[in-house]
Amino acid sequence: MSSVKFVNVKKRYGASDAAPWAVNDVSFEIPQGTLTTLLGPSGCGKTTTLRMIAGLEFATEGQIWMGGDNVTHLGPAQRAVSMMFQSYALFPHLRVLDNVMYGLRMSGVPHAQAAQRAMQTLTNVGLKSMEHRWPSELSGGQQQRVALARALVLEPAVLLFDEPLSNLDARLRREMREEIREIQQRLGLTVAYVTHDQSEALAVSDHVLVMNEGRIAQHGTPRALYDHPNSHFVANFMGEAVMLKAQVQADGHELKLGPLTWHSPQPLKPGSVELAIRPEAWQINDASQGLPAKVLKHAFLGPFYEVTLECEVGRLWLQMSNRDPLPQVGDVIGLTLGQVGVMVLPAQP
Ligand SMILES: Nc1ncnc2c1ncn2[C@@H]1O[C@H](COP(=O)(O)OP(=O)(O)O)[C@@H](O)[C@H]1O
Ligand SMILES: [Mg+2]
Repeated sequence: MSSVKFVNVKKRYGASDAAPWAVNDVSFEIPQGTLTTLLGPSGCGKTTTLRMIAGLEFATEGQIWMGGDNVTHLGPAQRAVSMMFQSYALFPHLRVLDNVMYGLRMSGVPHAQAAQRAMQTLTNVGLKSMEHRWPSELSGGQQQRVALARALVLEPAVLLFDEPLSNLDARLRREMREEIREIQQRLGLTVAYVTHDQSEALAVSDHVLVMNEGRIAQHGTPRALYDHPNSHFVANFMGEAVMLKAQVQADGHELKLGPLTWHSPQPLKPGSVELAIRPEAWQINDASQGLPAKVLKHAFLGPFYEVTLECEVGRLWLQMSNRDPLPQVGDVIGLTLGQVGVMVLPAQP
């Protein structure tokens, strides 16, 4: 069963018919108990989509369904949805337990019952012994967990996150995204999660909706989007890729990339295509084998070096393990392409 379903939803702000579509004809489903990420660059319509799930914005056209009910015209109070915002602003004058109980008390749950549910939720997010602390006595990550508990305690059918980790430093971001994923799976929550960070999307999601200019560019599992992007935009946004022009030969399988030949497992239409090449696709040989490429620079990034090269078909970069011998700037190496990490896309106009 799907918890959330959008059918041809469009949204423009303001009354003017001339206003641009913030969300332009979007259809998708979020299956119950799964986490779907809305991923895309700033301004592509992620927050607007999330706010339409919450009932904080209304669709200009189309329908929104939740758990089998048409909720298109229902307000936020009539939808079983909680939203966790970028700034998780706890009440500073309330202790942790009271912060978490607040929403329940507002909706009329008796004190003892609210306290018991809040304690259970604090246990679920790993804050069991912190209930008497003030928010100012907590680290950023702990405050984040209180905010999560505050949303969870209301037992929403759908939990919404809008860039929840963007205020945290890199290490804490990684920890928190793993925790959110763990709690989501343990409690079987249905989650819509907004981020512009592709590694976060890869790490937490069952499904990813890649958005571009108000539309869905592609929808799939992280692995499917990484391995089989259907456009230049998605190939670039889901992971790193170098884009190079290539020619499909008459046999439909051989592709020429300068002096390099790559074999497509699938038959293709002869003519120009664009190859999207992941950094892990390149194999490095001595200069006599494959595409000669001159080393322009390298940067040390811990587990690997990022090496920038100039060759006949353009400038490209790849990753080399820090355990492999590193070519020097000015050296010429030979590049060949493996089968993994090479994707054929329509030629760019
Ligand atoms: N309250 C608003 N009034 C008018 N335009 C808005 C409003 N909120 C967002 N927009 C516009 O809608 C588009 C999508 O915005 P948004 O959904 O916030 O994108 P994202 O969350 O992906 O950055 C943008 O062009 C933005 O400027
Ligand atoms: Mg946003």
